[in-house]
Formats: sequence, structure tokens, C-alpha cells
Amino acid sequence: MARDLVAMVDGFATPGPRHWRARRARARSEAWLGRLVEDVREGAAAAPAGSALDVVVRHRDVDGRLLDPHTAAIELLNVIRPTAAVCWFVAYAGHALHRRPDIRERLREDDDAGYAVAFAHELRRFYPFAPFLGGRAVTDLEWRGEPIPSGALILLDLYGQNHDPDLWNDPYTFEPRRFLDRPPQRDELVPQGGGDRATGHRCPGEDVTIALLSALVPRLARLAYDVPEQDPRIPLNRMPGRVRSGFVIEGVRVPASARRSERAAS
Ligand code: HEM
Repeated sequence: MARDLVAMVDGFATPGPRHWRARRARARSEAWLGRLVEDVREGAAAAPAGSALDVVVRHRDVDGRLLDPHTAAIELLNVIRPTAAVCWFVAYAGHALHRRPDIRERLREDDDAGYAVAFAHELRRFYPFAPFLGGRAVTDLEWRGEPIPSGALILLDLYGQNHDPDLWNDPYTFEPRRFLDRPPQRDELVPQGGGDRATGHRCPGEDVTIALLSALVPRLARLAYDVPEQDPRIPLNRMPGRVRSGFVIEGVRVPASARRSERAAS
């Protein structure tokens, strides 16, 4: 399942073998989740109360009908797949911590939750994931004096905006402190889309992403591990972005101080 989820994220908006691998992984996952939905409804499998599975299995549409198993599987996958995508940013976090031991030291401190959130924002700003989003104008409109005819294709340059020197001081420097005193404004930081998520298509999983990263990254910072020789470059013409060697770590050890922090956190 993990391999299939990664294949689906890695094949996003890209032609060729990665795309075909993603399609096969998607078909397999949908079939598996569809069967799971049927099993839960027939009492052959359990869905933990309040889990995504539980909510989707019991959801009724406007006509009061349960979702058919295939649609339910797609809805479930729409939650599980992007949650797995957060591992891309965890790999980027490994890259960032390796380059900036000073930042890693600060993240090891026990009760600096604000810094961990600022780090999560800076990860999402600095590292490439989806480079741009496309959409079609549904009507004739005008934006900052520019006429846009109905049907025109409009691209939102996510990476460009997240590195725009008019918005960000020193945009090509990785610096979580920029978000410490000033959380990002709605349409400044747009790695997961812009606008209002309640009325538009902005990613509804942004808070989940930030929560996962700010929980996982301090744990990663506290682990002891070796970083073997590898290719740390991140080509900007690959979609989704990725460290060339995937950011490999070896010989993972859990220091006693990290175990103490985990016990305190739990
Ligand atoms: C690596 C982390 C993530 C990235 C980079 C990301 C990025 C995006 C982007 C760029 C969009 C399209 C926004 C638009 O069209 O304006 C999107 C939409 C979406 N995301 Fe995420 N996302 C992430 C994590 C999540 C998580 C954790 C969830 C749910 C648990 C999630 C659920 C969704 C859904 C359901 C949509 C479709 C929204 C719609 O079309 O109305 N995403 N995401």
C-alpha cells in the first residue's frame, strides 16, 4: 500500500513510465478500498469510529443514498494519498536539517512548538513540490487591469510566488524565523494553492500537512543517523520535485534524550 501511494504521488501530472506506474497503483488501491468498504458494510471488517473509513462508509449523498463502493474508494484515496504525499516534505526536512545543523539543534529543543510550525511553513515555501496550478476562466473577467477572456487557461506560478523577492526577504535562503513572528497571510504562501479553501479549490489538507510536519520534524531532528555520500541536488524540471537520491539516511539510532522527549510528549 505504501509503495502504491508513493507511486501515485510520484506520477502526478507527469507523462511516461511514472504515470503508468501511478495508474496501475491507483487501480489496485481503488479495488482494494472498494472491497474494504463492502466488507465494513457487511460486518466482515471494522472501521474505527471517526476514522476516514468510518465517515466515508456511512456517508449519504443528497438523495440519502450510500456512496457506491467505487466512489467511496475514490473519496478515501483522496484523503490517504495526499496524506502520504507529506512524506515528500519529510524527505526535504532531512535535506534541510543536513544543510543547517543550527536549525536542527533548535528543533531538538523540547517545547519549541512555534518554531516547528515555522519550519513546516518554510519547508513548504522553499522546496519545490507542485510548480504551478492551471485553471480555465469560467467567464470574461479582469485581473489588475488585464482582460481575461472566458475559457482562457491561467497558470498560478506556485514556486515563483513562493520565491518572489517582492514578497520574501532573501527568498533563496532557508530561514524558518521568517514565519516566527508573522504567520503567512492567506495569499502569500501558496504551496497548496491560493484563495479560500471553503469556497475554492485550495488544498483542504493544509492544516493536516502542517500538523504532521511539526510533529514529525522534531522527531527526525532528535534521531541520530549517518548521511552517506549521495546526490543532494533537486532538479526543478521534475514534477513533483524530489531530491535526486531521495535523501538517504543510514544507521538510525534513537538517543536516550530523544526517548525522554517522546515519553514527555506522549
Ligand atoms: C504534501 C502535502 C500536500 C500538498 C503539496 C498539497 C497540494 C495541493 C494542491 C496544490 C491542491 C490544488 C489546489 C488548487 O487547485 O487550488 C490540493 C488540493 C487538494 N488537497 Fe492537497 N496537498 C497536500 C496535502 C493534502 C492532505 C494532507 C490532504 C487531506 C488529508 C489533502 C487533500 C486535498 C484535496 C481533497 C484537494 C482537492 C480540493 C478541491 O479540489 O476542492 N491535501 N492539494
